[in-house]
Amino acid sequence: MFYEIGDGSGHKTAGFKHSPFNALVAPRPIGWISTLGADGIANLSPYSFFNAVSSHPPIVMFCANGQHMEGGEKDSLKNVRDTGEFVCNLCTEELAQQMSDSSTHAPRGVDEFEVAGLTKAQSRVVKAPRVAESPVHLECQVMQIVELPTVGRGGSNNIVIGKVVAVHIRDDLIVDGRVDIARARPVGRLGYFDYCVVSETFEMLRPTWPLNAGTKTAAG
Ligand SMILES: Cc1cc2nc3c(=O)[nH]c(=O)nc-3n(C[C@H](O)[C@H](O)[C@H](O)COP(=O)(O)O)c2cc1C
Repeated sequence: MFYEIGDGSGHKTAGFKHSPFNALVAPRPIGWISTLGADGIANLSPYSFFNAVSSHPPIVMFCANGQHMEGGEKDSLKNVRDTGEFVCNLCTEELAQQMSDSSTHAPRGVDEFEVAGLTKAQSRVVKAPRVAESPVHLECQVMQIVELPTVGRGGSNNIVIGKVVAVHIRDDLIVDGRVDIARARPVGRLGYFDYCVVSETFEMLRPTWPLNAGTKTAAG
């Protein structure tokens, strides 16, 4: 199978009804983004065009695609523009339904914490609240918002890049001074309506040069 993207409908020439792109870049971590509007109303939405992009300093990004159903920018994007702050909450298997519920196209002014039946926890450095039920939170300050063009849909694609300024980890995830993330059972996004859960991990140390010299390093 091969196709060129072309004007964005290249997958159709290959016989796909829907673009398989999202199924090919998988699994994607889910940034469950909480923000506070300038009006003081909290907002919570999942973003799977999300990732860590640097560790020194820790930097994350999420991309708001298209527009709000009432027109204009999605609430998360509007809020980070207005306040310069957001929190990434880890979505776990037991929170998957609430995460999905929080993605509903709610009218502006609706607090998705309430829609999804979640509890707000106060952040320590930023004003945006955290999802109390989530075991990991990254408090972030916006560094840059990069606008990218779209094809075939309204609005634009905006990458929000944020510096992580504070980290919360539930104590039971810490074993011998390391985080055992499989204990949290994080949820990843696949294509279509599919998700996955991290339930087991394996370790592989980085090789030193030359390969096969018998020495390995754990340096990240
Ligand atoms: C698992 C999942 C991942 C999503 N990822 C994105 C994404 O990366 N970018 C995006 O614009 N919308 C994404 N969405 C849709 C948004 O969550 C949805 O448009 C939401 O209503 C936006 O809310 P907001 O206007 O409050 O920011 C995703 C939805 C789900 C369920």
